[in-house]
Amino acid sequence: MDGNASGKTLIEGLVDTDRVHKSCYTSEEIFQQEIDNIFYKSWIYAGHESQIKNKGDFTTFQIGRQPMILVRGDDGAFHVLFNRCPHRGAMLTNWHMGNAGHHFICSYHAWQFNFDGSVHAIPSPKGYDETRFEKSDPESCMKAAPRVASYRGFVFASLAEDGPDLETWLSGAKASFDDMCDRSPEGEVEVVRTCFRVVQKSNWKIFLENQLDALHPSITHGAAGKAAADVEEEIKAETGEDAPLHYHYLSAFTTPIYKWDGLETAGHPFGHCMLQGYMGLRPTDPDTLEYEALMEKAYGKERTEEILTTNIHHVLVYPCLSVQSPLQQLRAVRPLGPDKTLTEIWHFRLKGAPDPIYERSLQYYNLVNSPSTMINADDLYNFWRCQQGLESEGGDWVSFHRNEGQDHHDDGVTTSVTGLSELPMRHMFTAWADYMKGGQS
Ligand code: FES
Ligand SMILES: [Fe+2]
Repeated sequence: MDGNASGKTLIEGLVDTDRVHKSCYTSEEIFQQEIDNIFYKSWIYAGHESQIKNKGDFTTFQIGRQPMILVRGDDGAFHVLFNRCPHRGAMLTNWHMGNAGHHFICSYHAWQFNFDGSVHAIPSPKGYDETRFEKSDPESCMKAAPRVASYRGFVFASLAEDGPDLETWLSGAKASFDDMCDRSPEGEVEVVRTCFRVVQKSNWKIFLENQLDALHPSITHGAAGKAAADVEEEIKAETGEDAPLHYHYLSAFTTPIYKWDGLETAGHPFGHCMLQGYMGLRPTDPDTLEYEALMEKAYGKERTEEILTTNIHHVLVYPCLSVQSPLQQLRAVRPLGPDKTLTEIWHFRLKGAPDPIYERSLQYYNLVNSPSTMINADDLYNFWRCQQGLESEGGDWVSFHRNEGQDHHDDGVTTSVTGLSELPMRHMFTAWADYMKGGQS
């Protein structure tokens, strides 16, 4: 799809090196340009290959305003199609996932399609004799996304005919998928086939900016963290034992601000960002030891150490994903409007790892990322408050001044002097401005 040529004039003066204008979060016109220039030009996460294991398995998702289907075809290949019947335009399916059997069948007039989008059959085909309708005409077929590719099982699609291939585009963000998969003794992960879907009443960029915002956890989530830390202490006092690891997922939010200072954030090409820091997920309980033994068997001692001490906390694949690889969590961002964003919250199993290791991931998913936990609720409340404030007449700018001018640039990667730096926000807006002017391809 073509980018919007008037982007340059519209965004002029809205993005400085240290601040951005509030209309970047509130304007319907700018939102539409983001869809055209960013979401229709970059690679967007479609789903994981394990969601569509069998022929006919499909899952639906959005690229910008386009309803899309990721489906496994007859030949085992996967396809990404627009979720639109070429007859009268009905969406082929409104299920989030399922199996279509041998063909997609439109429930309006029963046109049938193969999983590559070509027409399989049409009822009463004689009606088309001597018309200009042709089964093989691309106009008669379900339209496919111009480009589809996968990296370590994570499938992306692009609506742009041209542009960097997936691996080039992912650049430094590949590390998140490598880290997630390498933690499996088989080198692969498998999706848990359901996700939380949350509609946030705020702009999509507010969510991404929050993900690597190391200043907020001990403030926003301090109360929830303190409650968990109190329970940890009670368990220790009553039993003499440390509380189970999952309490730590919450009590970690009491980590004082100065400790976050020691982490580092990095900006990679195409707007991707990383928070680097060791998450310390190596207790010495029997389950962990069993898991580490399996890893050593698969990779050897040295490589296992390397994998389990990988220095990644959180990665943003701009503009569509937030990935926490050490705990196999992934959140997909689907913008619905300037003040409305759908997030899909997924988690994965490490193939070949014992069940208790999966349970860790599930506990993190439920305790931290679920919409019913106080952690996520606190964040959602902040996002809504930001959106409300940005729509007010109370000021024009959003501040990203923290440690501005102190970032290091080396070989296309920008690194911060502290984990508390607002480098990720500045970095994403640098990519944003470039995309909006027609660049980044
Ligand atoms: S709209 Fe799909 S068959 Fe008519
Ligand atoms: Fe948070």
